[in-house]
Amino acid sequence: TGNVTLDSGFVNTASCSSAITYIDGDEGILRYRGYPIEQLAEKSSFLEVSYLLIYGELPSQTQIDDFDQKIRRHTLLHEDLKAFFGGFPRDAHPMPVLSSAVSALSTFYQDSLDPFDKEQVEISTVRLLAKLPTIAAYAYKKSVGQPFLYPDNSLSLPENFLRMTFGFPAEPYDMDEDMVKALDLLLILHADHEQNCSTSTVRLVGSSNANLFASVSAGINALFGPLHGGANQAVLEMLNTIHQDGGDVDTFVKKVKNKEDGVKLMGFGHRVYKNYDPRAAIIKKTADKILTKDGVSDPLLDIALQLEQRALEDDYFVERKLYPNVDFYTGLIYKSMGFPERMFTVLFALGRLPGWIAQWREMIEDPQTKIGRPRQIYTGATERDYVAMGGR
Ligand code: CMC
Repeated sequence: TGNVTLDSGFVNTASCSSAITYIDGDEGILRYRGYPIEQLAEKSSFLEVSYLLIYGELPSQTQIDDFDQKIRRHTLLHEDLKAFFGGFPRDAHPMPVLSSAVSALSTFYQDSLDPFDKEQVEISTVRLLAKLPTIAAYAYKKSVGQPFLYPDNSLSLPENFLRMTFGFPAEPYDMDEDMVKALDLLLILHADHEQNCSTSTVRLVGSSNANLFASVSAGINALFGPLHGGANQAVLEMLNTIHQDGGDVDTFVKKVKNKEDGVKLMGFGHRVYKNYDPRAAIIKKTADKILTKDGVSDPLLDIALQLEQRALEDDYFVERKLYPNVDFYTGLIYKSMGFPERMFTVLFALGRLPGWIAQWREMIEDPQTKIGRPRQIYTGATERDYVAMGGR
């Protein structure tokens, strides 16, 4: 193993070539298929961005209509899959419920097992995009003891998700168009981020020729961790703690700098961005608008703004190039929409889904793909003889 070099966390190791997402971390640039995230955020929709990521080009009117139709047609869950939700404890975190249900799709659609069957991959793509919002809404309904709502296929994807989450079968759902727009924007901003932890997981699992559902289920589990997608929930918990302790931002920042109990400023720092995360810049503007609507401001927003200001002026953060990342302000917006904290990472998963699918498909179609199998540097005992129990 003399020629094996350790690169813990793959800081410097490229595992694939990809034509999907471009990031320049020093300049704070993010583009999907060449299109700047700022333009997509302003002009596109989550559905269109999903198409763009998966198929490589912006769709024509006919293509997007067809894609939309197909997704609307597949939003229902198999009735037996619904029974699955009853098997979890009522207070289960929705992320493992989500990954379990996605994994279970392989049992309901056994025709999905061959990753090289192009027609089946196409159907699995549509099924996953259509069903994940339903699964996510049911995970929520189960946790609050409310009845499941069947999807209403006259609604768009974000509308349907909001209605299935917050609506009741007994009464019409009053759609808030501002909320639909805000959700759609957040989904666009999360849609892909090249070889992050969950996407690399999707590719690694898929490199064994595991099918799309199994690979994406693994990606959801990777996203659950607080250093990755779980950070949006962790940020809100951090803001709540600071608020409950009297709102003293300075003391908290000091704790972070002294690395007391391993406390981190959640929602800050990024492996690739050594400049302001462009997604955070867009989200901050939205947060300002939504959270100060009607002149009512969330005290947690004040704490977040103060934290950001303190950190950006502080040598500790400046030297380490730590800036707010995508998760810093999203939790505040989700909270204002009525989502409980434990649903935040689920919303990240809904957004990241088209990216996972696009990356998995690119991997499967790439003739350079080999099964992922890193090497190691062995540091254990050298050869020794087995010792019988009496001699240990
Ligand atoms: N608060 C305080 N110190 C930090 C933070 C932070 N949020 N992030 C990094 N550092 C310090 C770290 O302790 C290290 O200091 P030193 O050189 O003294 O040991 C230095 O900055 C470099 O950090 P690192 O941990 O080597 O960087 P990394 O690229 O391995 O980790 C990260 C990136 C995102 C995991 C990390 O910045 C972090 O834990 N941030 C908080 C969690 C978070 O917000 N995650 C969301 C990431 S963005 C979207 C997503 O993936 O979900």
